[in-house]
Amino acid sequence: MTLSIIILAAGQGTRMYSDKPKVLHTLAGRPLLAHVYQTAVALTHREIHIVYGHGGEQVPETLQDFQASWVKQEEQLGTGHAVQQVFPNLPDVDNILILYGDVPLITEESLTILVDAASDSGFSLLTTHLDNPRGYGRIIRDEHENIVAIVEEKDATEEQRKICEVNTGFMVIKGKQLKLWVNALKNENKQNEYYLTDIVKLAVSDGVNVAPVIADSPIEVQGINTRIQLSEAERYYQLVQAHHLMRNGVGLIDPARFDLRGDLEIGRDNEIDINVVIEGRVKLGNNVTIGANCYLKDTIIADNVIVLPNTMIDSAVIGNGCRIGPFARIRPDTTLDENVHIGNFVELKKTDVGKGSKVNHLTYLGDSHVGMGTNIGAGTITCNYDGVNKHQTIIGDDVFIGSDVQLIAPVKINNGATIAAGATITKDVSENELAISRVEQKSISKWKRPTKK
Ligand code: UD1
Ligand code: CA
Repeated sequence: MTLSIIILAAGQGTRMYSDKPKVLHTLAGRPLLAHVYQTAVALTHREIHIVYGHGGEQVPETLQDFQASWVKQEEQLGTGHAVQQVFPNLPDVDNILILYGDVPLITEESLTILVDAASDSGFSLLTTHLDNPRGYGRIIRDEHENIVAIVEEKDATEEQRKICEVNTGFMVIKGKQLKLWVNALKNENKQNEYYLTDIVKLAVSDGVNVAPVIADSPIEVQGINTRIQLSEAERYYQLVQAHHLMRNGVGLIDPARFDLRGDLEIGRDNEIDINVVIEGRVKLGNNVTIGANCYLKDTIIADNVIVLPNTMIDSAVIGNGCRIGPFARIRPDTTLDENVHIGNFVELKKTDVGKGSKVNHLTYLGDSHVGMGTNIGAGTITCNYDGVNKHQTIIGDDVFIGSDVQLIAPVKINNGATIAAGATITKDVSENELAISRVEQKSISKWKRPTKK
């Protein structure tokens, strides 16, 4: 039996109190809808149809690399109406799996079980038991424990609200029947919506057995309707990721204080202290230590690197044996060769630093090249921007730059040169030269300080 998949993602997400469509809110750095899509893609299927609507083209534009057919629901008249929008492109003979764009933690395993469960009667439904079922549709069973209806909370009686078995929203139905029942839906309910859930009643009256599958992990089927639920899902997801990394050898000091919003590739014997955030694609070699409160994004770090606390590294390549921070900021397009030391309050941008060079204190290097074995003194600033254009600073090998030097780019400091402290360098400096630009010191003896009037 071929499977077609529908993901419902047109709703507004009223309870988020946000102008952003709900399915674009992120979990572990990726839109909710991207999580559902990724799980759907892993199933053998004919086509994935995504119903969008609220927020207009924003949703398909943000997620344009999806291999899916996007179907617009102009008005959000309910989940049944949403499914109906796909009918012109939905084969009668397929089994149709319905997923919700705001239930991101569903697993491939659960969906596979659900798909298999539909093979007999042509209708299976994923339910779960919740201690607090508030907000969910309740599962109504008859005296033989057969499912006979789903009642939405807003339409439920006091008695029905006490039921703790809830509708997760996930179901598999034969295409032909789905069309028949959805086309027969009415919107006579508290929300005046065409509820997809009402097809259960129609199926039962047509003598079709609804095969239940009970999800054993309620968090997996948790719908995200509020920011509190989003944060709960986030913590759960982060812990799963953290434990996975730990099982593969990463030493996380506290898995509850670690956030990965992307992909982390790891070597052996890495240690990550608390409150580290990793975004995008980050690769760590062997023996890397990341101190507390660091932020790493789209960065490659080689072996034996120490990143000290409160350091930010974005889109950089860090060589073997480097030592960075504390309080360093490495900005995009920066490359550090082996054994480079970058110290506190140092900012690097579009800069490459050669083997063994040191930039230890209070420095800004932008659009620069630094050779090997060079020492950059405290307070060195490359003046790379004239207000209109950016210019390059080239510093050779074995250069010594004293403290508090301004290098007015474009400028080149050749190998072996020495720049005296306090210099403002506007002209190139040749090999092995000393450059000083300093007003000679004057002393006035017996100086009287001004007194307060
Ligand atoms: C829905 C179910 C409820 C279930 C719960 C599980 C219905 C009527 N109710 O309730 O039984 O317990 O999910 O999480 O189905 N959507 C559209 N178009 C619309 C309306 C909704 O695409 O016109 C999409 C939403 O974007 C969302 C999904 O359908 O992804 C569910 O809609 P939502 O409004 O969140 O339904 P719930 O009240 O959570
Ligand atoms: Ca929901």
